[in-house]
Amino acid sequence: MAEQLKVEMEASKRSKYEILLPQLEALLAGETDLVANLSNTAAALRTTFQWWWVGFYWVKNDELVLAPFQGPIACTRIKFGKGVCGTAWKENRSLWVPDVDKFPGHIACSSASVSEIVVPISDKSGKVLGLIDVDSERTDVLDNTDCMYLEKIGHLISKRLE
Ligand code: SME
Repeated sequence: MAEQLKVEMEASKRSKYEILLPQLEALLAGETDLVANLSNTAAALRTTFQWWWVGFYWVKNDELVLAPFQGPIACTRIKFGKGVCGTAWKENRSLWVPDVDKFPGHIACSSASVSEIVVPISDKSGKVLGLIDVDSERTDVLDNTDCMYLEKIGHLISKRLE
């Protein structure tokens, strides 16, 4: 596997994801270690989209624990049902929050982050194993296209755990 990511910085968002997905699939196919795969996925996403923060929280016992990420330091533990992450876990669905100030209970790891997407990663039975979290310092960057593609990426990750 060539350990160099091909990114078309001028391409549309969809094109960027379409270019990224097969590369990510190939990258993950060669490795079964979860931390290695989460680390490379976070790095590939940040390199491609230059988001403020992108990373993972993983379910450990009864809470979410910070896992590989790219960006500023972040909150390490989040309870079930708390914040955007804990709510996405509880409701087992992706959450796109265009304005975090309008989300009751949002956990502000960084005051620079103004919008957020959280996508659960589940096993075959539908049990949430962890989640992808993306934070932007802009309100006009994240949307449903990101949700859709991040769900595909979450699926690639969970497939490596089967
Ligand atoms: N804002 C999240 C917490 C995690 S950080 O954004 C990295 C939340 O409300 O759950």
